[in-house]
Amino acid sequence: MTMLLALLLGYLLGSVPWGLLLTRAAGLGDVRAIGSGSIGATNVLRTGNKLLAAATLALDIAKGALALWLAGSLWGEQAGLAAGFGAVLGHAFPVWLGFKGGKSVATGGGVLLAAAWWLGLGAALVWLAMAFATRISSASSLTACVAAPVIALLAGRPDLALFSAGIAVLVAIRHHANIRRLLAGTEPRIGRKA
Ligand code: G3P
Repeated sequence: MTMLLALLLGYLLGSVPWGLLLTRAAGLGDVRAIGSGSIGATNVLRTGNKLLAAATLALDIAKGALALWLAGSLWGEQAGLAAGFGAVLGHAFPVWLGFKGGKSVATGGGVLLAAAWWLGLGAALVWLAMAFATRISSASSLTACVAAPVIALLAGRPDLALFSAGIAVLVAIRHHANIRRLLAGTEPRIGRKA
């Protein structure tokens, strides 16, 4: 029962669509109508507003971290992990938006950061290195998804490897359109306006 409560708490926190709320509040319209149609920071950046994209990134990371931390403090470590997974689900499939949300990269990153700082940091560094090399957000995200379980395994934490692999599978599923564009060579570079 506690696990279910934690999952629900995480889902509700994760389902707050910060990218959509911020762009609407700034009078930029519906971010789902541009670029990839996602509510995440990469797509918010396509509005041309870097500050809003940075705020979206920070808030999406924060809600993932908060979900894990809050449920972990209330009900223990396992519940924290359940809430973290719930947050990733909530961002990707928010009930308020007809279950069409974002890619859960920032939210998943926040969850990993709260689960173990070195894991979140490691995944973020892999993302940054790939972004520097390719200038493609989705390629960076997918690489970080593969890297996270490997980092956890190398650190001797098979439990976190399994957990981050679960998040990675979900994130990869949400990237199906990006993967098609990557294979076709049509995926846009970071910051290119919609
Ligand atoms: O972090 C999200 C990124 O991996 C892809 O975003 O908007 O290009 O689909 P987007």
